[in-house]
Amino acid sequence: MPVIDIHNHFFPETWPDLAARFGTPDWPRIEHTEPGKAVIMLGDRRFREIDSACWDPLVRLEHMDRDGVDIQVISATPVLFAYERRAQHALDCARMFNDAALELCGHGHGRLMALCQVPLQDIDAACAEVSRAVRAGHLGVQIGNHVGEKNLDDAGILTFLHHCADEGAPVLVHPWDMLGTPRMPRYMMPWTVGMPAETQLSLVALILSGAFDRLPASLRICFVHGGGSFAFLLGRLENAWRHHQVARGVSEHPPGWYCGRFYVDSAVFDEHTLQFLVDVMSADRVMLGSDYPFPLGEERVGALVRGSQLPPEVKTKILGVNASEFLGLKEPVPQGRGAEISASVPAAQLTYSSYLRVPDLLRLQHVQSSPPHHDEMLFIIIHQTYELWFKELLHELDAVIANLRVTAESPASRDEVYEAARLLRRCTEIMRVLVEQLTILETMLPTHFLAFRGKLRPASGFQSEQFREIEFLCGLKDHKMLHYHEPTPEAYASLERRLREPSLRDVFFEALAALGTTPAVKEDATDEERVEARAQAIQALYRDERNHRDWIDVCERLTEFDELLVSWRLRHIQMVERTIGVRLGTGGSAGASYLKLTLDKKFFPELWEARTLLAE
Ligand code: HEM
Repeated sequence: MPVIDIHNHFFPETWPDLAARFGTPDWPRIEHTEPGKAVIMLGDRRFREIDSACWDPLVRLEHMDRDGVDIQVISATPVLFAYERRAQHALDCARMFNDAALELCGHGHGRLMALCQVPLQDIDAACAEVSRAVRAGHLGVQIGNHVGEKNLDDAGILTFLHHCADEGAPVLVHPWDMLGTPRMPRYMMPWTVGMPAETQLSLVALILSGAFDRLPASLRICFVHGGGSFAFLLGRLENAWRHHQVARGVSEHPPGWYCGRFYVDSAVFDEHTLQFLVDVMSADRVMLGSDYPFPLGEERVGALVRGSQLPPEVKTKILGVNASEFLGLKEPVPQGRGAEISASVPAAQLTYSSYLRVPDLLRLQHVQSSPPHHDEMLFIIIHQTYELWFKELLHELDAVIANLRVTAESPASRDEVYEAARLLRRCTEIMRVLVEQLTILETMLPTHFLAFRGKLRPASGFQSEQFREIEFLCGLKDHKMLHYHEPTPEAYASLERRLREPSLRDVFFEALAALGTTPAVKEDATDEERVEARAQAIQALYRDERNHRDWIDVCERLTEFDELLVSWRLRHIQMVERTIGVRLGTGGSAGASYLKLTLDKKFFPELWEARTLLAE
């Protein structure tokens, strides 16, 4: 897979005097100062010193080879956008630089590709120019993140984005014309402060205006500089979205949901930030972008991604796979030394701690009490340990379901029955540990717990998504419990999915029906009659032990699992009574007396019923 840099810039070596051509001042012009060096002037103001990497394809290719980049997707420098100028002038300017970009690419041995620019202040002209440019050989378009006071959710700009989706033209959004510039005269603050804020503004506008809900999913759009401050401020945005109607806009989903609708580049210059970005955006949404050849760009393009601790498959996605999809590259593209260099850069050596992400794990304990209460650390770690084991249980129980599904389709196949029993044994062993662990918490004095309990409200075990998932997965489905998960939409959605999906109990009895042990039931049979028929199916297995040892093993494991869960419920109640007596729960229940009502819950009631039915 070629290594593709989707964010870098060019200037042509020369261009006509635009101020003279259009009769208005301060258009960008280039003044060559010495061989290979130039300065971009805005009227009499020096804007930026540049060098031949901006215009010389051979210099670019040499740097690409040095850095292991196969393809550069070049785009104009935002100072050329001209959105504040007369539309006709901006169109002329766009055409001139778009043609210059293709000219540069023409000398790039197929390794330079281009995104065009358009006069975004005139939507018809912008649509026409992107279509012309794509026909001429541009891959897509780069736009500025606003046009004067208009953000990206402006109706005209949305029409343009629709048009790009229809044309199959990917859109790269670059911040420019930074807000608050008069307050940032020094230290390149428009770049370091203004640009990330501009990008944040664009994304928030697109999300909260519901624009992403209306734009076609086929639109491929990317925000450079790692999407500005968006990933870092997403928590803040989500919080506002949930708690303040005015902050919510008209988006159909919470802001984080829309991370699946856009891409960002990797130009963040720090490994932890890159890791965080991948965590927030997913490995499918980050692409190599360097800002080459400017001073705020990555000096050795791709070094951050290659040298990071990200897994190899994630690096491959960021270095090229994602860009290939974003750009819609279908034909094989010429490769330079990208793959070779990717392979030769020694992946940071795997260690115990990098494999297990120990530093990340150990950063996750945040006490709420102030000053920190000694026992709160135990309280956090024991709950986290439970959640890790719950995760493992779900992983195993899903595998049990998958095995039983196979036997439902081909009842003669026994391997999957043995495998289901083996995995269930693992689940029961985990459950034993989970029951036992509660004793550790009982080393905490009630007074010690009461010293920080108030800080935990309104959090409650009711909100353990994974515990509820285990219940739903096994067959104890209770729609009423969903409302405890309203504050966490992702948890709500996965629980809703578990409610819809066939449970372990359903799949188990489907498999037994396929085996032929279940008596037929009438269409309009009552629940009791169905349970009875299923219990008879179990009875049939136990009566014919010689032929059904494997299935009986599954039944025994399921029964044991059920039993151990009740043991956990009982030990949890005892621990709760020992720690808080008969106080109300932080989740609003009656506490221990409520929990006692759950002791009669069973995942597989038919397995218990069958025991009564078995003849002496
Ligand atoms: C001092 C320690 C603990 C106390 C005082 C406590 C108290 C309670 C109370 C009162 C409830 C009822 C719901 C409510 O109103 O909040 C509850 C539910 C729950 N707790 Fe705990 N708990 C403790 C530790 C744990 C631990 C270590 C876990 C491990 C995962 C846990 C998991 C749960 C779960 C899953 C529920 C929901 C049970 C159901 O709905 O059937 N709790 N807890």
